[in-house]
Amino acid sequence: MSSQFTNQVPFKDRIILAIESSCDDTAAAIIKNGKVICNMVANQAIHEQYGGVVPELAGRAHQQHLIPLVTSALETSGISKKDLSAVAFTKGPGLIGSLMVGCSFAKSMAQSLNIPLIGVNHMQAHVLAHFIDEPTPAFPFLCLTVSGGHTQLTLVKNYFDFETIGKTIDDAAGEAFDKSAKLLGLPYPGGPLIDKHAKMGNPLSFEFPISDLPEFDYSFSGLKTAILYFLRKEIANNPHFISENLADLCASIQHSIVKQLLKKLKKAAIQFNCKELALAGGVSANSALRTQLTALCQANEWKAFIPAFEYCTDNAGMVAKTADILYQEGLFETLETTPFARL
Ligand code: KG4
Ligand code: ZN
Repeated sequence: MSSQFTNQVPFKDRIILAIESSCDDTAAAIIKNGKVICNMVANQAIHEQYGGVVPELAGRAHQQHLIPLVTSALETSGISKKDLSAVAFTKGPGLIGSLMVGCSFAKSMAQSLNIPLIGVNHMQAHVLAHFIDEPTPAFPFLCLTVSGGHTQLTLVKNYFDFETIGKTIDDAAGEAFDKSAKLLGLPYPGGPLIDKHAKMGNPLSFEFPISDLPEFDYSFSGLKTAILYFLRKEIANNPHFISENLADLCASIQHSIVKQLLKKLKKAAIQFNCKELALAGGVSANSALRTQLTALCQANEWKAFIPAFEYCTDNAGMVAKTADILYQEGLFETLETTPFARL
């Protein structure tokens, strides 16, 4: 071997283990030199019977799932604990009991391996999921983040500078899907079920209101009330109204939610002269939202960025990608850090 290489510092892989436990999904991912090589999730079916997430049960389930999940993520990727460069966790926002489980686990691991600890903002991670795979959006771009807890429209100027230009004043878009589904007698989480039934229905069968707040804010609580009163009236005449019209009801509800979401996104694109539009968060798995954003962008010669399904709903791959960016900036947590429930 030529002697010019003998004094070089050996290349050390940058390998980060990331944990996501902000709500009811326990997730673990591994990123190696900027590439997500493993992305695993353990869902918590226990909440279905309660019609929503029960925080105490979520915390307990995270305790049960986390160690087997991390062990499996390391084994699948062929990574040993001693190879890790850092451990990352979701610092917030989310359910405090759930966040504490991930935070405590990550702290213990960072301390025992004597490696840096990285705290990740869950909402920032949903947006930065766009940088996991090519093609990636160019800054500045507009991102509509729609999940079970949040609905916000953000102008993303760089990895760390996000300007929120609009948000929901009441329910989040995912909540609107889930609460509407509950009114139709569908189990939690109802969003994916509305999406499924809507595929067989006519979105123009029933007309539900679309809020029109000034600027870029959203509101979904009026929709829920309108559906409630509408169903009460129809069921009084026909007790089988829901089952006989389920597909059309789902399609019409989905139409109303998607129309409101895209109306503001389009308005923002024009006002901010932004030609790159992205979706993030669990509701970006919705097929009508994905199709209609793509169509909107094609019609205007804009670019649409929609994450792969595995990076739409809560996942640790997005936490890993964000942690990798923070790692390279040297932005670490101390072992005294604690999670936060709200933004
Ligand atoms: O981002 P996420 O996994 O968790 C939170 O941080 O909230 O989002 C979960 C939300 C739930 O409200 C769920 O019903 C909704 O995303 N969701 C969908 C679909 N898939 C998930 N909503 C409509 N259509 C879908 N296909
Ligand atoms: Zn989320």
